[in-house]
Amino acid sequence: MALNICVTGGQWGDEGKGKVIDILSEHFDVVVRFQGGSNAGHTVVIDGKTYFLHLVPSGIFHDEKVCVIGNGVVLDPFGLKEEIENLVSNGVSVNPDKLIISDRAHLVLPFHKILDKALEESRNFRKIGTTGRGIGPSYSTKALRLGIRVIDLFNESDLIPLLKDNVDCLNFLFKDYFKTETVNIDLLYKQLLEIRDFLAPFTANTVYKLEGFRKEGKSILFEGAQASLLDIDHGTYPFVTSSTVIAGGVSSGAGVPAKELDYTVGIFKAYCTRVGNGPFPTEAQNGMGEILRSIGGEFGTTTGRPRRCGWFDLVAAKYAKIINGYSHIALMKLDVLSKFEEIPVCIGYRYKGGILKEFPSDIKVLENVEPYYKFLNGWGTDITGIEKFEDLPEEAKDYVKYISDSMETNLFLISVGPDRNETIIVNNFIENNEV
Ligand code: GDP
Ligand code: IMO
Ligand code: MG
Repeated sequence: MALNICVTGGQWGDEGKGKVIDILSEHFDVVVRFQGGSNAGHTVVIDGKTYFLHLVPSGIFHDEKVCVIGNGVVLDPFGLKEEIENLVSNGVSVNPDKLIISDRAHLVLPFHKILDKALEESRNFRKIGTTGRGIGPSYSTKALRLGIRVIDLFNESDLIPLLKDNVDCLNFLFKDYFKTETVNIDLLYKQLLEIRDFLAPFTANTVYKLEGFRKEGKSILFEGAQASLLDIDHGTYPFVTSSTVIAGGVSSGAGVPAKELDYTVGIFKAYCTRVGNGPFPTEAQNGMGEILRSIGGEFGTTTGRPRRCGWFDLVAAKYAKIINGYSHIALMKLDVLSKFEEIPVCIGYRYKGGILKEFPSDIKVLENVEPYYKFLNGWGTDITGIEKFEDLPEEAKDYVKYISDSMETNLFLISVGPDRNETIIVNNFIENNEV
């Protein structure tokens, strides 16, 4: 029976979505990215070899699977070409039978990246700490109805006026307000015609492609990027990204109706990290964050920035469950906690003499809450090679059960190392097909 599922990040990103998508891909025919852009950095480790993906879906390592970049993605065409060439030079096959790009996807162009960096630098209040990949500006020109889509590259005569409407006023801002580099329209036009020829064989109206796959009874896996607390509507605004990252984004970002999703899986680290600015109630203090960072190798996949590290936050995780409707969760990087004698888990926020159980909308409140921790026992031994849930130390079992029980959700898998193989499948709901 065909099955469609969506996988999204439950925290602030980098939970290990790439690893889970790669593992899940085996059970699906099609893997679809539906939002975000090359701000994403998804890592897949196969037999000790590490691959980094930014736009290409993490199903690409499986031959016979089709990967789709949906209309909701903002696509840096030059970055995508480099990513594809890099994969190919590493022996991964990428061709138009395996990768289909929506002709409705909006492009991220050099002026979006310049604007992203200039805006970030000029902000005095609430600097976001963006990845600098032009994501916010590209979604902004989309909303302004000035965006340039993949399909627009094929209407050569309209491309120059479209570029001019974008660039003329931005160049004025770049030169006279931001005092930064400007964009040469003629050069960009030439580069766009070249990249169009590269993109052409990959490009299609993916709505009809996906509908065709569904009619053939194929199973589709939707790969989220970024994560719930970075969602433009439901995250810690303004310290968020610019797209709908939660499971609901599948409908608009891929053109597949919401009712087609059978399951939604939330990916969580067994602790918590955040890269970029913004409130992070459980950020570890007194050097514990550095210890987590060094054991967990917590440096950004896209920017190399050190990730801020802290403890599992149940208030935030339960909120992420609500907004995505998680049927299952995956708990990643449990091995990173092996050295800790006690592991704090945040079960409420202390605020003005009371305890908040709800994730606040007001970031002023979120910035001022104190985490209320329950301390769970650590297990003190390396768990990396463990393959079965039964073989985990009792304290590790208690830790993961405490989290999944508190979230009232099913535990799909536990990850105990970066490699594809370092995974304990707890409940193979796909093979069991327990809808
Ligand atoms: P994504 O953006 O959600 O796909 O996650 P990233 O790839 O940005 O970051 C996750 C990092 O953790 C990568 O370096 C992975 O290789 C690594 N990783 C994933 N699962 C595990 C795990 O269970 N244990 C350890 N130690 N590392 C893991
Ligand atoms: P993956 O898919 C972690 C963060 C940035 C910044 C904010 C806005 O690898 O989990 P943007 O460039 O999107 O305008 O930046 O969002 N951010 C991520 N953090 N993982 C990501 O993606 C992220 N994508 C964006 O650091 O705080
Ligand atoms: Mg990442």
